[in-house]
Amino acid sequence: MTEATPVITIDGPSGSGKGTVSARVAKTLGWHVLDSGALYRLAAYAARKSGIDFKNQPQLSEIARNLRVRFEQGRIFLEDEDVSLSIRTEQAGNDASRVAAMPEVRAALLDWQREAAVAPGLIADGRDMGTTVFPRAPLKVFLTASAEERAKRRYKQLKEKGIKSKISDLAVEIRERDERDRSRAASPLVPAGDAMVIDSTAFSIEQVVDQILQAAQERGLAKP
Ligand code: DC
Repeated sequence: MTEATPVITIDGPSGSGKGTVSARVAKTLGWHVLDSGALYRLAAYAARKSGIDFKNQPQLSEIARNLRVRFEQGRIFLEDEDVSLSIRTEQAGNDASRVAAMPEVRAALLDWQREAAVAPGLIADGRDMGTTVFPRAPLKVFLTASAEERAKRRYKQLKEKGIKSKISDLAVEIRERDERDRSRAASPLVPAGDAMVIDSTAFSIEQVVDQILQAAQERGLAKP
């Protein structure tokens, strides 16, 4: 990241609305978005496809380092396979959370994430954007919501994508994934000390986006 490239980090647990909020803030500001979760999902998907043992850290980090990914018009291709939907399943999310607990995998994806900080600016969506990847970002947001609310949102999101699920199963998976993401030693899911924490349980997406844009203006990152 150069001094000239502003970054707004948006971290938080799964289903907190980070993805939607990041896309809207980026659209308003005309900035790029880094969906860092997609990188962990891709690494896990590639590992599962090649039959690698999920405990084999060196092989997993090798896979992460050599991912051949293309982002094209909103679709994601791994080699030549369109994986846009397959990396969004709950299984893929849980696999991602498992490989993301490994420091070597995280290290393999670090430079790639930092290279996404290009002009005019970047909205970095993830778990450790404000703590590890962009610790000097001028605005850091930590977005959260109750587990029940997040399970409901996830259900709706998956349904819209044509993926079947059950709210009760989603709530259990969300709690397990939160626990794994929060308790890992490498870059755990915690708010940066200087993050603005927003509990979105009772807020609409628009209200959250407005709060972030307001904070961006206050820091001189966006025009009023
Ligand atoms: O945001 P997501 O649900 O697509 O992320 C999938 C998993 O990837 C998540 O459970 C934890 C991991 N992840 C991470 O450890 N660090 C990030 N910056 C982003 C995601």
